[in-house]
Amino acid sequence: MSAELHSHIRSEIDASRTVLESTLYSRKAGFDETPSRMIATAVSELVRNILKYAGTGEIRLRQVKKMGSRGIEIEATDHGPGIVDCEAAMRDHYSSGGTLGLGLPGVKRMMDEFSLQSTPGEGTRVIARKWI
Ligand SMILES: Nc1ncnc2c1ncn2[C@@H]1O[C@H](COP(=O)(O)OP(=O)(O)OP(=O)(O)O)[C@@H](O)[C@H]1O
Ligand SMILES: [Mg+2]
Repeated sequence: MSAELHSHIRSEIDASRTVLESTLYSRKAGFDETPSRMIATAVSELVRNILKYAGTGEIRLRQVKKMGSRGIEIEATDHGPGIVDCEAAMRDHYSSGGTLGLGLPGVKRMMDEFSLQSTPGEGTRVIARKWI
């Protein structure tokens, strides 16, 4: 299986479908149940942020290889308002939206590699990888 999973996120239905598809994609890529759930939970946090802060965006899942290891890369992109202070956004319990503020730091903990790039006024891109 090499095709990537590409989802446009515009509604709660897109969000739920994408989370479900992420679990199936991870299982097919060779991840066990627990890491597949972690990947789906990471996707869930990223789609929630897209809906809540940007309105719409995209999720892509693809299989990646590095020095003999196989894994999955999640890419979440949007053209929303962006994040002024990425360091603050990565802190536990920082939330501009009045919720727990555990989404992004949680994604970082659940995955093996994590990067957040954001430009205010242009949008946000998160890339996270997990290895089998
Ligand atoms: N896609 C995004 N576009 C703009 N700002 C974002 C985006 N994702 C996250 N942020 C900013 O980063 C902050 C931290 O995100 P995080 O997901 O950790 O917490 P939260 O969404 O506020 O709360 P929780 O995820 O626990 O419900 C958000 O409060 C918001 O200010
Ligand atoms: Mg969040």
